[in-house]
Amino acid sequence: MNLKAVIFDLDGVICFTDKYHYQAWKALADRLGIYFDEVINNRLRGVSRMASLEIILERSETAYSQAEKEAFAEEKNNTYRKLLEQMSPADLTDEVRQTLQELRRRGCRLAIGSSSKNTKFILGQIGLGDFFDAIADGTDITRSKPDPEVFLLAAERLGLAPADCAVVEDARAGIQAAKAGGMTALALFGDAAHCGLEDVNLSSFADILNHI
Ligand code: G6P
Ligand code: MG
Repeated sequence: MNLKAVIFDLDGVICFTDKYHYQAWKALADRLGIYFDEVINNRLRGVSRMASLEIILERSETAYSQAEKEAFAEEKNNTYRKLLEQMSPADLTDEVRQTLQELRRRGCRLAIGSSSKNTKFILGQIGLGDFFDAIADGTDITRSKPDPEVFLLAAERLGLAPADCAVVEDARAGIQAAKAGGMTALALFGDAAHCGLEDVNLSSFADILNHI
């Protein structure tokens, strides 16, 4: 395909923080007496923290103020950060590490495009703090996926045109964002796979090597 760069989503692609997001949201939902399960959790992939909270509050009878919602989001994030502290370079699989190294060996530029404001903390935990050529994350953007803002910023920071970039995503919202930004969309796991908007369905992380 003659692509010059790969922009990776973080949560659910490079590492599996989904279970920690779930545990942290579940603790908040339980405390507030709101039903929450793994199916609802699937709707939170690629969605910003505040938008995730709104999805959880859909099942609440109480109308909370903006200040209460901000406190809930902070409570969830504090629980989530404690869970992230358990992460280490052992949470990066050999498959992901070797695939990233092989892409770099082939001259491909590598970036992260994530809605998470915890991106740099997570990359540090798994030993990739200095690895990527560019990072665009939730601290840089005002519009979350499916808006292409985070991926366009990653491409800009790489100094490349969107058409030169592929995006790897596990979220349908992320595939929508990649296509809206004019990039090649590679779907891996989650609700991205076979969502109908992707250019390629990857069979595994290492399968990226067959499409770049
Ligand atoms: C990623 C995850 C979402 C999460 C979002 C914000 O996109 O897939 O589940 O809500 O980041 O994460 P943050 O770490 O900023 O709360
Ligand atoms: Mg994701």
